[in-house]
Amino acid sequence: MPPIISVKNLTKTYGNGFEALKGVDLDIERGEILALLGPNGAGKTTLISIVCGIVNPSGGTVMVGGHNVVQDFRQTRAMIGLVPQELTTDQFETVWNTVSFSRGVFGKKANPALIEKILRDLSLWTKKDNMLRELSGGMKRRVLIAKALSHEPEVLFLDEPTAGVDVNLRRDMWEVVKQLREQGVTIILTTHYIEEAEEIADRVGVINGGRLLLLEEKAALMKQLGRKQLTLDLTEPLAALPPSLGAFDLTLSEDGQKLMHEYSHNGSQDSISALLAALTAADIHFKDLSTRQSSLEDIFVALVEEKA
Ligand SMILES: Nc1ncnc2c1ncn2[C@@H]1O[C@H](COP(=O)(O)OP(=O)(O)OP(=O)(O)O)[C@@H](O)[C@H]1O
Ligand SMILES: [Mg+2]
Repeated sequence: MPPIISVKNLTKTYGNGFEALKGVDLDIERGEILALLGPNGAGKTTLISIVCGIVNPSGGTVMVGGHNVVQDFRQTRAMIGLVPQELTTDQFETVWNTVSFSRGVFGKKANPALIEKILRDLSLWTKKDNMLRELSGGMKRRVLIAKALSHEPEVLFLDEPTAGVDVNLRRDMWEVVKQLREQGVTIILTTHYIEEAEEIADRVGVINGGRLLLLEEKAALMKQLGRKQLTLDLTEPLAALPPSLGAFDLTLSEDGQKLMHEYSHNGSQDSISALLAALTAADIHFKDLSTRQSSLEDIFVALVEEKA
């Protein structure tokens, strides 16, 4: 099957001359969940806004369901649900009306049963008659999600859906995302939290400086991301690594005082106990130990350096 979204050599230069996208190619398969990671200002929202037809591209093409997002704006937009990063809703409208009207905007027949299900799934049912200005920030975000789902889109964009929301909303949201995926909805989300990508995505893309630096199956990426480092502070400095430790992924610091061991975050316990046993056998002792896990920031830095 052809990809549901196909982005080719997409560029965006804003009116002030800023190049926010520098040639992005991206195919998104029907039914997949893609997480886009990237630091502030990477170009994630710009990319999403172009696919949704809110921002005009400067070059390249974007097709959604075989239609061009510029020429066939109405058709492509109707296929898409967008939960924007910024809260923009009429504060004096009720939750029920906001969500129901949104369905109407896309020319779909009223479906109160569906709206009720959406509101219940997002724990908004008890607030259905409240005006938006009477809701908390997290509840307003739920309304945006409900709104985006009201016209039963084939593709759902969630732009930083969990920035500043509590554990409950996260849980509700991932529940809804899982249900949608079972219905075959394609989901693209941006996030700064690697755990979110880890939990939900099939593929992960990393954007930085207007370029897609990496696009990979999550399983492959997590192997790379989940590296941990164990550092042992030795009681006596070592001149060199003894051959008996050759089987372990070890690095000795220049002063010979520290041994560093890299391992992956899953299934690592055996290798660590084997390492400690081998150290004891080699009569190498340590006075302290610490571990650190590569953070998203490390990963970005590593990626940016690697591809630069
Ligand atoms: N309307 C605009 N005019 C000029 N520059 C813009 C405009 N909108 C965005 N930019 C710039 O384009 C770059 C990418 O912005 P974008 O909002 O796409 O980033 P982002 O990856 O979504 O970041 P964040 O994680 O902070 O949401 C930024 O440097 C931003 O300042
Ligand atoms: Mg953004």
